[in-house]
Amino acid sequence: MVYWAHMSTEKNMEEIVSLAKRRGFIYPGSDIYGGLSGTWDYGPLGVALKRNIMALWWKLFVDEREDMYGVDAAILMNQKVWQASGHVDTFNDPLVEDLETKQRFRADHLLKDAGYQVDGLSLDQLTQLIRDNNVKSPNGNELSDVRTFNMMFTTTVGPVADDKAVTYLRPETAQGIFTNYKNVVDSFYPDLPFGLAQQGKAFRNEISPRDFIFRSREFEQMEIEYFVDPAKWEEAFEHWRQQVWKWTQALGLADENVHELEVAEEDRAHYSKRTIDFEFDFPIGREELLGLAYRTDFDLGNIQRVSGKNMEYTVKGTNTKFVPHVIEPSFGVERALMAVLTTAYTEDEVNGEKRVVMKFPEHLAPVKFAVSPLVRNKPELVAKAREVYEILKKKYGAVMWDDNGNIGKRYRRQDEIGTPYCVVVDFDTLETDGLVSVRDRDTTEQRRVKPEDL
Ligand code: GLY
Repeated sequence: MVYWAHMSTEKNMEEIVSLAKRRGFIYPGSDIYGGLSGTWDYGPLGVALKRNIMALWWKLFVDEREDMYGVDAAILMNQKVWQASGHVDTFNDPLVEDLETKQRFRADHLLKDAGYQVDGLSLDQLTQLIRDNNVKSPNGNELSDVRTFNMMFTTTVGPVADDKAVTYLRPETAQGIFTNYKNVVDSFYPDLPFGLAQQGKAFRNEISPRDFIFRSREFEQMEIEYFVDPAKWEEAFEHWRQQVWKWTQALGLADENVHELEVAEEDRAHYSKRTIDFEFDFPIGREELLGLAYRTDFDLGNIQRVSGKNMEYTVKGTNTKFVPHVIEPSFGVERALMAVLTTAYTEDEVNGEKRVVMKFPEHLAPVKFAVSPLVRNKPELVAKAREVYEILKKKYGAVMWDDNGNIGKRYRRQDEIGTPYCVVVDFDTLETDGLVSVRDRDTTEQRRVKPEDL
């Protein structure tokens, strides 16, 4: 069952989820076997959109910069990584149990949805809030005391399942960066400040995954660990704050829908001395889109302590050494995708008929052009249209051949998947001007252009 925490009337989340499934963007994971809660599969259009978002990020933050290095670390890491990072001890969420059904809920979400203020409350305080207000489970039953639940998925490596074989599916990509910091310094000896960037899967055993792809158990991160002189962390933090705005703008999100939230000390992750959450006005409410954290030397310091290896950086041409501090902009791919998807979803009217159109920015649209002959039973029209299609396909890749149904139906279908341009080869193309008609998704206006000018 999908559970919507906060419904909004403006853009209906269920409509968007339904369109995403129907049109091949996102399917519920393992659907054919009744599903697996907190997992989602990406269909042909979803994976194209996701890759466009990830490629844009890589272009902006790695390829276009001189101070960034990409890495791609293994998901499975030595258990010491997660002991040293503090995740084994502290990567917990507050859990509460329905005493009748044994169903488990995230205590803070349950209380928040019931209208209570829970920010910064300890486990005991959450339990007290439940007792004082006689808060019941969504099934109307008594609740247990609130306790901690570690969100890491445990697994074992190799054929002997003893304590030494235990490891975890990584809950953040960040540690794969920290553990490679020294390797990159030794290979490239970059000037400070510099950053390492990584994209990849992360896993969290969420107590109650919900809100479509917003909170799932398997997801994808795009993270940067930016290493700085400790005396200059504030400057770097400001730099990345601006870069985050550049990112939200590149995604086509309106500035007025993005909000900075300075996270209070008691709500910050265990490693952070300062965090700004960037929140977005999703149809489910204002929720975290990404985070910017000052992780100090917490991680490199822990690695140095536990591994015994020196993590100091020597400033070139000097004897000055220190363990660099870290600014971390951490981006969730699915949250970016959900922001883009919900922003794009538009209902309007064309010639008195209701239409659903996904107004993706052109650079993110999964399909850039759809090409068709006006009718499909005229071989000469089809041949010319195939010629145009093949030229565009070679040039842009993301081009669809669509000759199903009448032209009006094709436009509706392409609008629903957000194709910016529909190209139609008609009789005039063959008999008079050689021009093709190009219909604009947003204005629905048509122009006639030379195929080679597309
Ligand atoms: N690396 C920060 C996070 O995963 O939340």
